[in-house]
Amino acid sequence: MNILELIKSRRTIDPDLFTGETIPNELIEEMLEAANWAPTHGFTEPWRFVVYNRDTAPIFGEFHAELFKSLTPTEQFLEKKYEKIKYRSKNCSHVIICVNKRGDKSNIPETEELAATSAAIQNMLLVATEHQIGTFWSTGGMCYHDAFKKYFGFAEADKVVGILYIGKYSIENPSGKRNSGWKEKTIWK
Ligand SMILES: Cc1cc2nc3c(=O)[nH]c(=O)nc-3n(C[C@H](O)[C@H](O)[C@H](O)COP(=O)(O)O)c2cc1C
Repeated sequence: MNILELIKSRRTIDPDLFTGETIPNELIEEMLEAANWAPTHGFTEPWRFVVYNRDTAPIFGEFHAELFKSLTPTEQFLEKKYEKIKYRSKNCSHVIICVNKRGDKSNIPETEELAATSAAIQNMLLVATEHQIGTFWSTGGMCYHDAFKKYFGFAEADKVVGILYIGKYSIENPSGKRNSGWKEKTIWK
């Protein structure tokens, strides 16, 4: 498959559709290696990852759900949402928390570091796609809350960019869609 076909075949797969099979750590390491080769202005290399495996992911689910419970006003609390957050990874092989570590180079704006971290995540998704591994880039739950990043030891200036739920899947690759083609988003001068 050429690179364009690979890019186009990458799909967001709902973790509920994962099979629960374990993906070898070597494949996850390959994804992380790809991440580390993202473009990076000033070599700030701001991408940071916290990796949970099948055995440890429930610890993350428990933390995430309890954070949701403790920070949600009682009148807004929904048991269904609590359960969804808690058990989101039940069929996953791995879960990766993706964080942008804000550097101290004043000439590199945060936007550029966030761009680099996002590129690193995309690199991971593409390696996963190559191996028919499903990924789900989530920004749901409490991931933008300060207490979330602090739990992982990150600082005020750092930003969680996503939670990657990763697993094998056996459904046919869903067809993708875009609302418009590249021509409508491009001006040639
Ligand atoms: C920064 C970012 C955050 C996302 N957060 C969520 C999310 O919280 N929940 C979700 O269902 N999908 C999330 N997605 C995935 C998009 O829903 C998905 O990319 C979109 O539906 C297009 O589908 P495709 O990835 O299969 O092309 C996110 C994607 C990006 C880039």
